Amino acid sequence: MIVSGKELSARLKAEMAEQVTTFPMKYGRVPHLVVILVGDDPASVSYVTGKAKASQVVGIKNTTIRKPDTISEEELLSLIRHLNDDDTVDGILVQLPLPKHISEPKVIESISKDKDVDGFHPLNVAALWQKQPCILPCTPKGIIKMLKTAGVQIAGKRAVVIGRSNIVGLPVAKLLLDENATVTIAHSRTKDLGDLTRQAEILVVAIGRPRFVTEDMVSEGTAVIDVGVNRDPETGKLCGDVDFAAIEPKASVITPVPGGVGPMTICCLMENTIECFLKRQESSH
Ligand code: GUN
Repeated sequence: MIVSGKELSARLKAEMAEQVTTFPMKYGRVPHLVVILVGDDPASVSYVTGKAKASQVVGIKNTTIRKPDTISEEELLSLIRHLNDDDTVDGILVQLPLPKHISEPKVIESISKDKDVDGFHPLNVAALWQKQPCILPCTPKGIIKMLKTAGVQIAGKRAVVIGRSNIVGLPVAKLLLDENATVTIAHSRTKDLGDLTRQAEILVVAIGRPRFVTEDMVSEGTAVIDVGVNRDPETGKLCGDVDFAAIEPKASVITPVPGGVGPMTICCLMENTIECFLKRQESSH
């Protein structure tokens, strides 16, 4: 079964849109998400455009601020401070990666933890690992939603995560663990990786290498989540980290690229923005 993140996210966004229509009466305004894009990397431009489009569908106010890649770190931090203090802003997202002269950890830390819709702030990350209430990072949250919607039982399963980034690998492993899977975190240089992945009942791949996971690495009936976004070196088309054509017949469920995890990430960003908005409403009364 191919799990369409595109369809699931469309359904969830429609539900959110309905919820948001009640906000002006209840709260006098709609949620406001500010997205900052530094530079003009085509992939980043495309992600940011996707976030603006989704906001429009859900009825969230989106302000996208574009800055040249010559912006200084201090100027960017000052912009973020200004947005932190702005009561009409509910969510702040700085699109990554940033130019080398700007410290990403510094920027992430400068965003108010209550407006950190990405769930990247160290206080949110700490809260996640300590099982405290927190803003969940969008991609891991979207992956769990997809598995559940596809009817994949997570509890008791052997899950293997290839990739250990702060954005996907580590948090998705933690969320799977919280769902009572037994989780192994591997990476592209894990010894005898195939021996490990063949044992996986749930396989999440997030390393960013086209067709890294080959047919021989996956057992019959595995649920395969492909987080990769790559250009196929031969066709130039978008492709994931797994050899989709070869693995799809073996997998119990598999996510396509494009149209799988990507739309779910954006969908969860919308959810997080609404969550931050509602929390701010509660605390202001
Ligand atoms: N770059 C790639 N993925 C992401 C994401 O989820 N959030 C941000 N801010 N930047 C990214």
